[in-house]
Amino acid sequence: MIFLNGKFTPKDQACISVMDRGFLFGDGVYEVIPVYAGKIFRLSDHLTRLQNSLDSIQISNPYTPEKYQNIFDQLLEQSPNSNQAIYLQITRGVDTVRKHSFNELTPTVFIELNPLIPKTKTELENGYHAITHPDFRWERCDIKATSLLANIIYSQQAKQSQVEEVILHRDQIMIEGATSNVFTVKGNTLFTHPTGKHVLSGITRNLVIESARHCGLIIKEVATKIDDIFSANEVWISSSTREVMPIINVDSKLINNGKIGQHWSQVYDHYQTIKNA
Ligand code: PDD
Repeated sequence: MIFLNGKFTPKDQACISVMDRGFLFGDGVYEVIPVYAGKIFRLSDHLTRLQNSLDSIQISNPYTPEKYQNIFDQLLEQSPNSNQAIYLQITRGVDTVRKHSFNELTPTVFIELNPLIPKTKTELENGYHAITHPDFRWERCDIKATSLLANIIYSQQAKQSQVEEVILHRDQIMIEGATSNVFTVKGNTLFTHPTGKHVLSGITRNLVIESARHCGLIIKEVATKIDDIFSANEVWISSSTREVMPIINVDSKLINNGKIGQHWSQVYDHYQTIKNA
């Protein structure tokens, strides 16, 4: 069952109009919210970011936090105590004619659950590969928009290159991943680009920072050169579905001789503690 516009429906019977602006223009926003053992993780952070995304594109939030919670609870009843990723998408709604500007419409709300299978620590310890690419996205990467063509191009490039992620850079500055935030560690200091028009305010990013601080790392949210990645002791990516993942090879060059860093291991452990609290 999925949730669409007030109704719980089997997925193969759920329909939207061809005039939905989500379909016509990618005119909508979304969230991906992890659920661990049936418990929704950091729901209020996700709903706050959803509100920011909606405000940025002038869509009125159709539901209260209590209503979202109620819908999620009903969907989660189908598979209690499991790990899931809630996908929540809100589009501007169904228009009468295709035009770029808009009048106020009734937003389309689609919510579904997907199984979430986080990698085990042993799996993660193998390390992952990434490639770098200039960032040709727009200047509003703070909005979690469903229009993701650039990110799709990068993700397909990652798939074809058999790597986990594409790390983006602008004017020689490391920005974020195509679908994740990026961190580097040098000595005792963790670096990540500040959030803003080029970097999504990742919920996991905040948790990684919180965990790293707990583990005694110094946190610097500053712009760093993309080339600094090659002399970093550790490189990590983070997202709600991947948690915090170690990258040991970028553009076919080894990071830290291809060895997993000790800081990653500690931060990973603390992240699990927060998750399971
Ligand atoms: N993507 N930056 C980008 C461009 C992202 O697409 C994502 C997540 C993140 C990390 O955000 P968070 O920690 O809140 O998941 C950063 C999701 C998972 C997706 O598009 O499916």
